[in-house]
Amino acid sequence: MALQRTFSILKPDATRRNLTGKINAKIEESGLTIVAQKRLWLTRTQAEGFYAVHAERSFFGDLCEFMSSGSVVVQILEGENAVAKYRDIMGATNPANANDGTIRKEFAESIEANSVHGSDSEENAAIEISYFFSAIEIVG
Ligand code: RTP
Ligand code: MG
Repeated sequence: MALQRTFSILKPDATRRNLTGKINAKIEESGLTIVAQKRLWLTRTQAEGFYAVHAERSFFGDLCEFMSSGSVVVQILEGENAVAKYRDIMGATNPANANDGTIRKEFAESIEANSVHGSDSEENAAIEISYFFSAIEIVG
């Protein structure tokens, strides 16, 4: 499997509880490298743009409200099989169903406030990375 990049967000429930260091430690322990990172406070419109694929879902309004309720840390992670590897260490969307040792099992508060986002495909990773980062902000 070739070197891949995925896009990650440490969500407002994580930044509010000062968990960015602990989550980054788990990311790095998995072998993924953080090749870009910045802290932002998304506007409601920016959150809606990012989650546009979910516009028809019942939870869309609540999700965009939550994602703009505090700061986030947006990241690019690089490594072998990065998209699937990050989804693995994130754990299931609902922390009640997440495996032991995963980020969501350890840190998530609820199905919505679940601490992290990770791209679900290489194609979406490229789209999400370009939503937040320019080439000059990416190392490596
Ligand atoms: P993400 O996109 O954030 O990495 O999470 P995911 O793939 O595991 O889950 P997805 O189905 O893409 O949902 C996106 C985010 O919406 C919130 N959500 N709330 N209240 C609900 O039933 C519900 N379902 C999903 C979560 O914050 C989820 O991560
Ligand atoms: Mg998703």
